Parts: sequence; C-alpha cells; structure tokens
Amino acid sequence: MTAAVSLRPATPNDVPACLEVFYAAGDDLAARNGQPPWPRDPVSLAGLFQHLIETDPGRTWVAEGGSPGLAAFGLAHRREHAWFLAFLFVRPESQGSGLGRRLVDACLAPDVSELAPSGPRAGLTLAVCAESTQPISLGLYARYGMLPRVPLFALRGRLDQSWPASGGGQLPGALEMQPLAESEAPAHAADAAQLDRIDRAVLGYAHGVDHRFWHHAQRQGYLFRRSASDEAIGYGYVHRSGRLGPVAVTDPNQLAPIVARLSASIEAPQAWQVFVPGPSPALVPLFGAGLRIDEHAVIYAATGQGPAWDRYIPANYAVL
Ligand SMILES: CC(C)(COP(=O)(O)OP(=O)(O)OC[C@H]1O[C@@H](n2cnc3c(N)ncnc32)[C@H](O)[C@@H]1OP(=O)(O)O)[C@@H](O)C(=O)NCCC(=O)NCCS
Repeated sequence: MTAAVSLRPATPNDVPACLEVFYAAGDDLAARNGQPPWPRDPVSLAGLFQHLIETDPGRTWVAEGGSPGLAAFGLAHRREHAWFLAFLFVRPESQGSGLGRRLVDACLAPDVSELAPSGPRAGLTLAVCAESTQPISLGLYARYGMLPRVPLFALRGRLDQSWPASGGGQLPGALEMQPLAESEAPAHAADAAQLDRIDRAVLGYAHGVDHRFWHHAQRQGYLFRRSASDEAIGYGYVHRSGRLGPVAVTDPNQLAPIVARLSASIEAPQAWQVFVPGPSPALVPLFGAGLRIDEHAVIYAATGQGPAWDRYIPANYAVL
C-alpha cells in the first residue's frame, strides 16, 4: 500500500484530515497499551496545526493515497538554529513500511545541508518529544541522532491550600508581575526584546512567532521583574482553562514561585494542566500542592542537551 502513497506540502485546508489521522493513530497506540482513547481537544489542536503550517511551509508535509483522506502527516518547525518535529502520525494500517521515515526526511529537507560535515554547520539541533510507550518513534528518531534525554510529565489536578499562591499570590523577593503588552501597544517592542533575551538564555533561541501564537490562543502572558529593575527575570503564560505554560526564568529558584503566582492570577479552574520536566525544581512543589502525574512520561529526544530544563516549563510537547 505504501508504494502508492505520495507526499506533498501541507496546506491549512489539510488541518481537519490531519486531526483525523492524529486521533486514529493516537487511539490505536493507546489501545495497544491498554489505555483509553486520547482526550479530544480539536479546536486548540487545529489552531496549533494551522500555526505550524503557516509559519513553516517547507517543513510541514502530508501523505495521501492508499485510503480515503490522508495516510499520514508530519509537521516540523525551525526557530533560529533549532529544528523541532512537532507532530508525526501515520494511520495504523499504513504504519511500519517506511512512511514515517519519508515524512521526517521531507520535513528535514530544507535544513539537512546544515547537518552535513561539509555543510555550513550553523549548529543546527534536531529535537522531538516522543511517547515513552512508543518504541517505534523512539527508534526512528534515534536514527537521526535525536537521542532520548529528559522525561516530561503531564501534571493535572486541583491545587490545594499548601500552594504558596493560595494566600494572596505574593511573590517572594518582591517580584513584580506585568501583563505582556498587546502587539499594537507602544510597549510591545520592549516586551518582545525581553522575551527574546530570556528565550535565548533558557531555550537557546528566540521565537517571537510562537509568543504571538500563544497570545492569539488566549493565553495571558506576564513578564516578571525584580522591583526597580528594567530587566525581566522571567515570563509565564496561563489560560483560563487551567493550562499553564510556557514559563521561563533566568534563576531556577524563581520557577516554582512564578508558577504559583500565575496560578493565583485566574479563578481556580476544574483542573490544572502543567507539563513539567523531570529535573524541574517545580516538580516536587507541584506534587505537594496536589497535582499528580496523569499519564506516562513523554521523552525529549534531541541531538544536543536542549533547553535549561530547571528553568523552563513548556506549553505543550509540540512547540517548546
Ligand atoms: C511512530 C510512527 C509515526 C512511525 O511511522 P511508521 O511509518 O510506522 O515508521 P517507519 O516504518 O517509517 O519507521 C519505523 C522505524 O522504527 C524502527 N523501529 C520499529 N520498532 C522498533 C523498536 N522496537 N525499537 C527500535 N526501533 C524500532 C524501524 O526499524 C524503522 O526504522 P528503520 O527505517 O531505520 O528501519 C507511526 O508508527 C505512528 O504514527 N504511530 C502512532 C502514533 C505515534 O506514536 N506517533 C509519534 C508520537 S511521538
């Protein structure tokens, strides 16, 4: 069947068919591991697919043929020297015959010359987040040098009284919390420069295009400053649904207090959702406050060490 499958660049019109493939492949994987179907959140997922297709047209591909609709899709993005595979999903009936590898090759094609020993060597890193229960993807990504490095955990639940923010949300060390300026406001350029500086220090690259996406996806962003300082020491986002992240700080000691302050900034939702790296100083405080690991770990796999995991909490597993 795979011989009849051909690849072409993704377009925004492919988003609904990509969602179908995503849930078909995800549910099949879950069933094989004796787990329930994946939770549905098609509206925000569709927004994320569209964002990637629009920002990275040469790195987003679909496969069609063999059966109605799409057989598979792959969405990657590049931010400065960092290439990241955000989604790779193949319909169950088309798996195991080389289609996943063909899609990774296509998504990597615009950048692959930088990996060649004789190429320009811009220091390109390749990275992905893979299900820890999925040996096929972990094996496939390792063949590209993306080696398993750090576990990430989805924490969910309600925050209880022990969480420092519950008593009024005062920040230790007198940190000030300032809403990020709207893109049309005069202060926007100054805020964007602060975000870029923090991202380069913590992630290794700036990605203003993704900050604009989180803003449009209605995550409320804040900059955090020490009193009487112009320089921000971190930023964080929170959505009224209880999704918290991304959060980046220049000092790991400030990570848990800033997460606490963000959580105090909205009415308590039905449940919080935070993706916390294994080495994070926020992990144990969040356990203590009542959140629990909701599912198996996801593994950050990469050609290098990646973000400073003690200073970063991602928004999701697709755009760090
Ligand atoms: C993961 C997925 C995208 C891979 O696509 P695919 O078309 O099935 O994979 P391919 O046939 O192109 O390649 C599979 C590779 O994994 C390797 N592999 C398979 N099982 C393996 C194992 N147990 N250990 C190590 N490597 C393994 C194969 O040898 C092959 O590598 P090769 O081409 O170097 O020989 C697809 O199976 C899928 O959609 N699965 C369900 C959803 C999912 O897990 N998505 C990824 C989320 S991170």
